[in-house]
Amino acid sequence: VEANVHRWVQRHGWDRAAGHYERFWGRQLQPATDLVLRTADLQPGERVVDVACGSGAVAVPAALAVGPTGRVLATDLSPVMVAALGERLARCALSNVAVEVQGAEDFDRDSEFDVALCSLGLMYMPRPDLAARALARALRPGGRVVLAVWGERHRCGWAEIFPIVDAHVSSDVCPMFFGLGARGALRALLADTGFVDVRDERLDVELVYVSEEDALGAAFAGGPVALAWSRFDDEARRSAADEYLSSIAEFADGTSYRVPGQFVVAAGRRPG
Ligand SMILES: C[S@@+](CC[C@H](N)C(=O)[O-])C[C@H]1O[C@@H](n2cnc3c(N)ncnc32)[C@H](O)[C@@H]1O
Repeated sequence: VEANVHRWVQRHGWDRAAGHYERFWGRQLQPATDLVLRTADLQPGERVVDVACGSGAVAVPAALAVGPTGRVLATDLSPVMVAALGERLARCALSNVAVEVQGAEDFDRDSEFDVALCSLGLMYMPRPDLAARALARALRPGGRVVLAVWGERHRCGWAEIFPIVDAHVSSDVCPMFFGLGARGALRALLADTGFVDVRDERLDVELVYVSEEDALGAAFAGGPVALAWSRFDDEARRSAADEYLSSIAEFADGTSYRVPGQFVVAAGRRPG
């Protein structure tokens, strides 16, 4: 039951965040996106699945990399995110991408893909192990998996967003968010799922917010707490915004902010 509530909160949160996501997060997540794609080393003709695809930060360049003889299946829990990706695909006239609304844990394909990707999605899943298992099953023997999550909590300067929002809604919006970012955790998830040649890489970045509005938009409107935020009254919004800005005050640089962040990218191979 708890897992279902959790997924419901995520689904509706991301539905709300979808319209703000690219503006506030597109550029900030680019280093993680690039590392995922570099690690995946996609080849022309390959079949790729990208779960928790959002509006296609990874799926779109993946489709370009595999070219017209390859294909990408992109899935996400949020119908609004999937619709945003559909519009983007139409705009760039990419015809080798199929999109589906689906939770990553429910992905049910057998040995159909050369490469499985999930970039910055597993932190929101109550059972990331189920998603990892689904990806393993979907890969052909020898197929590659590449996953990305946020890294260690103390390396992510924006982390106070969660306790600040939780205090206003008296619940945990993202209870297991930093679990997979701990040293070795993502590698262990892959190894426990049966992947081999497992490795990982950490990437420290700076999230640059040009203004308070930019920092607040990314934290509250464009991300996983968007559902809670949409329900706050003006007073709760003001106080949560003040609390968040004080939590990142040490990273202020004039009128902008340079907030540290860390990503982990892990990769492995299905045996066989
Ligand atoms: C931070 S966004 C990442 C999107 C994209 N991969 C990227 O790198 O920009 C997180 C995405 O995970 C999706 N998500 C959350 N829980 C999910 C689940 N259980 N199954 C599939 N997608 C999920 C959200 O809807 C959202 O689009």
